[in-house]
Amino acid sequence: MKILSIDTSADETSAAVTENTTILSNVIWSQASLHAKWGGVVPSLAQRAHEERIDFVIEKALITSHQSPITDIDAVAVTVGPGLAIALGVGIDRAKKLTEKYKKPLIAVNHLEAHILSPFANPKSEARNPKQIPNTNIKFPNFGLVVSGGNTQLLLVEEIGKYKILVETSDDALGEALDKAARMLGLGYPGGAILEKFSKDGDAKGYKLPIPLVGQEKKMKFSYSGLKTAMYRLVESEKPLTKQKIYNLAACFQDVAFSHLLRVLNYVLTNHQSLISSHLLVGGGVASNIELRKRLRNLGKKINIKVHFPYTKKLCTDNAAMIGVAAYFKSQRGEFVKDIAKVDRMPNVKLEEKFKW
Ligand code: KG4
Repeated sequence: MKILSIDTSADETSAAVTENTTILSNVIWSQASLHAKWGGVVPSLAQRAHEERIDFVIEKALITSHQSPITDIDAVAVTVGPGLAIALGVGIDRAKKLTEKYKKPLIAVNHLEAHILSPFANPKSEARNPKQIPNTNIKFPNFGLVVSGGNTQLLLVEEIGKYKILVETSDDALGEALDKAARMLGLGYPGGAILEKFSKDGDAKGYKLPIPLVGQEKKMKFSYSGLKTAMYRLVESEKPLTKQKIYNLAACFQDVAFSHLLRVLNYVLTNHQSLISSHLLVGGGVASNIELRKRLRNLGKKINIKVHFPYTKKLCTDNAAMIGVAAYFKSQRGEFVKDIAKVDRMPNVKLEEKFKW
């Protein structure tokens, strides 16, 4: 099943061609530099940039995958949510036009489901048998963790397509918290990757920040707003900031933010493990962080859970190839859109929700 997929949910204009779970092309045009001076994504700017770039990005995805012209494609897939409404609209509109013009079926994809299934993607070079799904040794039910700019969720993956939220954040997402901390330190946007870089030269124990909800892991919640406020106060009290102070503050914030995530995961995974097979699927932009990967793998070793990440960092941050992978699994279940005209943006859609169209 060859799928042309499109994602315009935030500030990346992306299109990809996948064959089953194999990635034939994955074109991502980031708008980060456009939004950097505002310290976050400006929806109207994002919409305009998507409009200007989408046709080029789709064309490039088709050419790079050697599937041009589009007639060789079996279906078109598009992210319908969650994300920025006016940005989502650009991708949905293009996907509808393509399906109409070329008489292809449409698959509507939840962006969060795509993050969770991104560890199933495999590179073209490894596609010995394109019919074979990689990671088939992963048994269900298992756990899924999304750590992105907009979401921090631990899920029970009953099977592909069936999810239950076990833990979510009561305020900010982890990526959002890292972005805000980076902004406080004057490090620019998006902050997670920059914070990671600066942390390497810092002493995480150089400052003290409170780990959120210590001793309250039973509540099964993530929370980052208290930590953010504590960081703000600390940064203000340390001004003027020297380079070394910035390194130490970055290292301390990242350390405490990850410690909170790991403490909650440790509690929930340990206490639910008997019900579930020993696998954790991890996706989302923050999953590209080396330190976080190390800590998750260590936790996995300690409690005997195998942790799976996407094979490349490019599949962690927003991209259309993961949409194609999720769409492939949906096609296997026969979940094609029945009434294309009715497909609409779902900016706040939850992972458990089913599309009506
Ligand atoms: O998955 P993603 O591209 O967007 C959403 O679907 O939300 O995630 C973006 C988030 C941003 O908050 C960004 O700062 C964070 O992922 N991020 C990182 C790293 N790379 C991106 N956080 C920590 N370390 C990184 N290396």
